[in-house]
Amino acid sequence: MRFKLILAGLALALGAGLTLTAHSQMKPEVMVKQRQAAMTLQLKYLGPLFAMAQGKAPFNAETVARNAAYLDVLDRMAWDGFDPSTKDTTATTRALPVIWSEPAKFKEAQTHFQSAVSELVAASKSGDEAKMKAAIGAVGKSCGACHDHFREKR
Ligand code: HEC
Repeated sequence: MRFKLILAGLALALGAGLTLTAHSQMKPEVMVKQRQAAMTLQLKYLGPLFAMAQGKAPFNAETVARNAAYLDVLDRMAWDGFDPSTKDTTATTRALPVIWSEPAKFKEAQTHFQSAVSELVAASKSGDEAKMKAAIGAVGKSCGACHDHFREKR
């Protein structure tokens, strides 16, 4: 009896929680933090590969494959954080207003980046070191291409 009551209570609490998440709007400041966190992780996993591609770190195909797989998920995460509600955020941000005035271009830069990551994933399975290094460089370029246009320079 008691157990049933607890279960019923749990179901209610879970239900309420889900409804809340679905209906409450996320605060713009939180979204800015989250998109920056996704970017930080992208750098965390691309950085070591970049060092390998430049010959500054020993090449390790296993790390390339692992980090490429992480990037393949991360490359989808930041974008919903660039919600129009974050335009006038009080949070510290380097996002430029062109993100909202040229949404198609911003989207194109995301797609370009995601296909570069897909190429890297494919290359990481090829066993071909030169191919992997070239694919790493292409991903780095796709990050930079977006930053050049959509991120404030410091
Ligand atoms: C489609 C555009 C786009 C692509 C692609 C992109 N970025 Fe960014 N990135 C941005 C924008 C815009 C910001 C600024 C976000 C802000 O400050 O709110 C940013 C911020 C960052 C930051 C700073 C985060 C912080 O804490 O302020 C890092 C690091 C970063 N990007 C790394 C990367 C790396 C590495 C890649 C590629 C693997 C990448 N980005 C791909 C647009 C992009």
